[in-house]
Amino acid sequence: MSVDFDLVLVGFGNVARRFVDLLHEQRAALARDFGVSANIVAIATRHGRIASPRGVDARSFERARTDTAAGTGDTRRFLRDLLAREAFARRARAGRLVLVETTTLDIRDGRPAIDHVRAALAAGAHVVTANKGPAAFAYASLSAMARRAGRRFLFEGAVMDGIPIFNLVHETLPTVRVTGFHGVVNATTNYILTEMEQGRSFADALAIMQAEGIAEADPSLDVDGWDAAAKASVLANALLGARMTPHDVEREGLNDRTAARIAAAARDGRRVKLVVSGGRTPRGRIRARVALEDLPANDLLAGLEGQQNALILDTDLLGEIAIVQRGSGLTQTAYALLSDLVAISRSDRDRPPVRPRARRGRTP
Ligand code: HSE
Repeated sequence: MSVDFDLVLVGFGNVARRFVDLLHEQRAALARDFGVSANIVAIATRHGRIASPRGVDARSFERARTDTAAGTGDTRRFLRDLLAREAFARRARAGRLVLVETTTLDIRDGRPAIDHVRAALAAGAHVVTANKGPAAFAYASLSAMARRAGRRFLFEGAVMDGIPIFNLVHETLPTVRVTGFHGVVNATTNYILTEMEQGRSFADALAIMQAEGIAEADPSLDVDGWDAAAKASVLANALLGARMTPHDVEREGLNDRTAARIAAAARDGRRVKLVVSGGRTPRGRIRARVALEDLPANDLLAGLEGQQNALILDTDLLGEIAIVQRGSGLTQTAYALLSDLVAISRSDRDRPPVRPRARRGRTP
């Protein structure tokens, strides 16, 4: 059985553009090995919007960066109006419409990304997102909404790009319970810490991460530990069943004492890493934190150089499972969206069809 998806891209920055190219590059493999094809039917950014049920040309949109016919404005309203159009609503009801959400993280409350996800699920669309906000702030309610609608809400790209964490646990570890986690999940700060060990200044190292597009648009999100806190919240919510937000995560970032700390740790043969961790307290409460830790040289996390990341899951049946990411970049993040799309096609095939609630009239 083949599955042809119609994709609505909300956010069209570097990740979404790389995703469009990747879809093209992997078109033959997706069709041959998974029976999956994908057609982009809408793109919405702060700068412009374009939509057609027959498909839109992402490359020419990228060049023009704006669609004067649709004008600019609120992506929430654009999405709501789009999903109300019968041609798109029909595809959503058939389980073939997918929202691809790649807007940037708003650390205050995860909006408007959460609103985009809600609108899509309410209309019967699946959702894949590389934005940490929805799962960091509203995992439980969005997952429940997706379950009720018989749709998927997937966010593999939220932590360690396309390296499987959530799909690994959900698809390949039946009955295994994750009881805790710790790791290094922010590339920018790990790069800065590694470079500072070599004598490079904090500012120079950060500038390199900004130039490579790895740092967040607002780099204080990386430096102050917010990006790591958002990832810790996603991990705690999705793997431990927490209902937290990044604001519930105890948080420490890099500061003007970090250089002295790196030097002192080095004298003892140790390395300073920004470590996220999460687990249950003896009273059963789930807690997560982001903190600078001095690690002995033989610790797996201490061995991470530059942009490398790693996550160690504590499990009941398999003990510790370590997942190491040695290459990161746009392709890895874009790949997360592609692998989520394939995960949706698989679950579509495996499950009996679910009929989402009709919005009006008869369900075709
Ligand atoms: N700014 C993030 C990092 C990008 O440095 O890890 C990936 O989420």
